[in-house]
Amino acid sequence: MSKWLELRRVFFPMLMMCGATALAQKPADAYPGVARLATASEVAAWDIDVRADFKGLPKGAGSVAQGQDVWEAKCAACHGVFGESNEVFNPVIGGVTAQDVERGRVANLTRSDYPSRTTLMKLATLSTLWDYINRAMPWNAPKSLSVNEVYAVVAYMLHLSEVVPDPFVLSDHNIAQVQQRMPNRLGMTTDHAMWPGREWGRRASRPDTANTACMKNCATDPQVASLLPDFARNAHGNLRDQNRLVGPQRGANTLLADASAPSAGVGAAISPLAAGNKASMALLTQHNCTACHGLERKIVGPALTDVAKRYNGQADVLVVKIKSGGVGVWGPIPMPAQNLPDADAKAIAAWLARGAPR
Ligand code: HEC
Ligand code: HEC
Repeated sequence: MSKWLELRRVFFPMLMMCGATALAQKPADAYPGVARLATASEVAAWDIDVRADFKGLPKGAGSVAQGQDVWEAKCAACHGVFGESNEVFNPVIGGVTAQDVERGRVANLTRSDYPSRTTLMKLATLSTLWDYINRAMPWNAPKSLSVNEVYAVVAYMLHLSEVVPDPFVLSDHNIAQVQQRMPNRLGMTTDHAMWPGREWGRRASRPDTANTACMKNCATDPQVASLLPDFARNAHGNLRDQNRLVGPQRGANTLLADASAPSAGVGAAISPLAAGNKASMALLTQHNCTACHGLERKIVGPALTDVAKRYNGQADVLVVKIKSGGVGVWGPIPMPAQNLPDADAKAIAAWLARGAPR
């Protein structure tokens, strides 16, 4: 089966769930043997979006008081009792006033000295808040809230933001009216350039989409302009564990636990050299070397421990080999030239040259 067909097999069921038009075309007939029609309940399970005009919003209701209970049980641990915490994310609540509710624009958004941009400051459409919480929160158990719990917790958040009084019951009947009180409902604009734009007193320049591609004398290796400061790395003591599912992140080696901060669970500080080994192994994954090289196992290319034995202490030789590729040293299969940053190639080479230790 060709790649295209394989892809289609995966994507067709997804496309079909996107709407009735796709269903009407009956791709199952158009491409016999490929895919099948999604069932009504499969479509319903995907079709949960709530539009700005509230199309798709399920019927239901919840009060501010019920919402406070939901918030304290299921949200406060991460977002703070009043939604003010910036522990997991920007604060959700704060920074809006009764005047903003009247005006439909949030005054603090235009202040350069205001410390943060909370969700309720920026949010223009209430449907977005409802939809997002319904599909994505609580973060550790998405889609676990009942419809009425979503109404209730949204009501509570709106109450904290001076949009609705207490007691108040938010429901599918009155949500459109409440939309008319959203603090930043008139704040959505396409009339802006790259930040900072007009609201900061700059005459708006053109948006970044007007950039033209560089054609000559272009910078090749990007320079890192800002870094997470060392003291902030591992601020919670378990940076590695937090990233264990996704691996290293661009711009920061999250596998490198701060030697001064014991990694959670292990309990003992790891040595900088051991951390460097981990970091190099992470680079192998990041740059897909592991698709062809096993640590101790030949795959398409030689086992890295064998490479390490042959080029013991020769980091300089290894850097060149990694970047330019080659053929014939280990067999007839060529190794393609590898396009990775010099710093990463050097780190891998140094690690190989010291024996590819774990
Ligand atoms: C386990 C921690 C955790 C819990 C519990 C949690 N959240 Fe979140 N919340 C997050 C994280 C992390 C983000 C940022 C997610 C992202 O950007 O991908 C977030 C984002 C949000 C946002 C979007 C903010 C924005 O401006 O984009 C809202 C609204 C929100 N949470 C509401 C809730 C509500 C309501 C609950 C309780 C029902 C809840 N959260 C429970 C961690 C949590
Ligand atoms: C598409 C498969 C493939 C990928 C991806 C790949 N390699 Fe290789 N690699 C090979 C093969 C095959 C050889 C053996 C080449 C030969 O016989 O000269 C090899 C050889 C090597 C050698 C020894 C070269 C020599 O002349 O002895 C090093 C070092 C090496 N690879 C490192 C890496 C690193 C680091 C990466 C990731 C940045 C990587 N490889 C990605 C297939 C691959």
